[in-house]
Amino acid sequence: MKVLVIGGGGREHAIVRALLKSPRIKKLYCAPGNGGISRDAVCVPIKATDIDAVVRFAKEEAFDLVFVAPDDPLALGLVDSLEEAGLRAFGPRKNAAVIESSKAFAKDLMEKYGIPTASHRTFSEPEKALEYLRSHGAPVVVKADGLALGKGVTVAATLDEAERAILDMMEDKKFGASGSTVVIEDFMTGPEVTVLAFTDGKTIVPLPSSRDHKRAFDGDKGPNTGGMGAISPAPDYTPEIEEYCMKNIFRPTIAAMASEGRPFKGVIYFGLMLTKEGPKVIEYNARFGDPEAQAVLPLLETDLADIIDAVIDERLAETEIKTSPGAACCVVLASGGYPAEYKTGFEITGLNDLPDSVFVYHAGTVVKDGKYFTSGGRVLGVTAPASDLESAVSSVYDGVSRINFKDMFCRRDIGRR
Ligand code: AMP
Ligand code: GLY
Repeated sequence: MKVLVIGGGGREHAIVRALLKSPRIKKLYCAPGNGGISRDAVCVPIKATDIDAVVRFAKEEAFDLVFVAPDDPLALGLVDSLEEAGLRAFGPRKNAAVIESSKAFAKDLMEKYGIPTASHRTFSEPEKALEYLRSHGAPVVVKADGLALGKGVTVAATLDEAERAILDMMEDKKFGASGSTVVIEDFMTGPEVTVLAFTDGKTIVPLPSSRDHKRAFDGDKGPNTGGMGAISPAPDYTPEIEEYCMKNIFRPTIAAMASEGRPFKGVIYFGLMLTKEGPKVIEYNARFGDPEAQAVLPLLETDLADIIDAVIDERLAETEIKTSPGAACCVVLASGGYPAEYKTGFEITGLNDLPDSVFVYHAGTVVKDGKYFTSGGRVLGVTAPASDLESAVSSVYDGVSRINFKDMFCRRDIGRR
């Protein structure tokens, strides 16, 4: 098989590495990829959101499969365009990717089909949103309807903060068109868990659970980031909770999408909160999470190419998906200043000095004369699978201690709290 992976971060590096394990894959390309990915796949400088260029390239090169990993191209309908051009693509079509690209859609779906989530109201007029907010009170959560680089959610402790968020989104257009509609929802508390699952639109097979660590600093302090590390599985996601989620959340979501004429095929991401009243959905994504994929994919034992075929051909019910009973941990090494301003272009050292149990997924690197340099906020995802979480965490931090670049920082408490 000749395969093209779309995207260029740590998640895409993990997907590339998982695909490389398949004896069926003879040629692997990535667009745009990054410095580290270029060691494992041929990187081509095409932007993931340049739909026409991706389709043209995929046709010219006659790929057997195109794996669309990031949210933006899925929301723009890249899978639809590839299919129209006669190509095989992995990922949901645009009408199913809406489960991530419109929070209002996702909330209405959950309400209609009785899937547990926080109560909500949707508004497209700022006055109405403010009026509802005042009657609701704080704490409360304000969300931009559309994609906003993971920054469109304000968990507001006070009414002032919530009002500011609504005005930023609806009047000042902080997130452009993504914020012209807002969802206001009840504040929930409890530990968060991510579940990534393969689905062919009829059958759903969850992978081991995981936990992202979104805040920049130890102790869940500091600003929200794209994710500073992940563990898999999440220790508090018990078999009983999994059974509840399967029955009340996972299967009903897939059935709901099918009933709506939007069959979801690909990887669906359930962002869950384990509240006192039971697990509830915080959000859906239409793809692997980043950095959750970096912790979950190393535990996948079944050939990823076989799973992809089963999803596309709707044969998931007959396909066994095996995962390791162990655990994995991924710690992100970031550029000083991230998620605000940071400098790039610093040489990365120590990558050749890692223990065998540790490997590194590249997120923001370039390669020049065989040396790696930083090129993004999140630079590397240092990862280790092991028989248990404690060993995975200790291997990862052993690896982390050997790597360096100017202004590097990371969280020291991933999987430790
Ligand atoms: P999202 O971008 O939808 O993943 O939201 C970002 C983060 O905001 C989540 O990971 C939660 O920590 C928090 N969050 C979102 N919705 C709620 C809610 N209804 N109650 C409490 N926290 C929330
Ligand atoms: N880790 C959160 C996300 O991928 O959206």
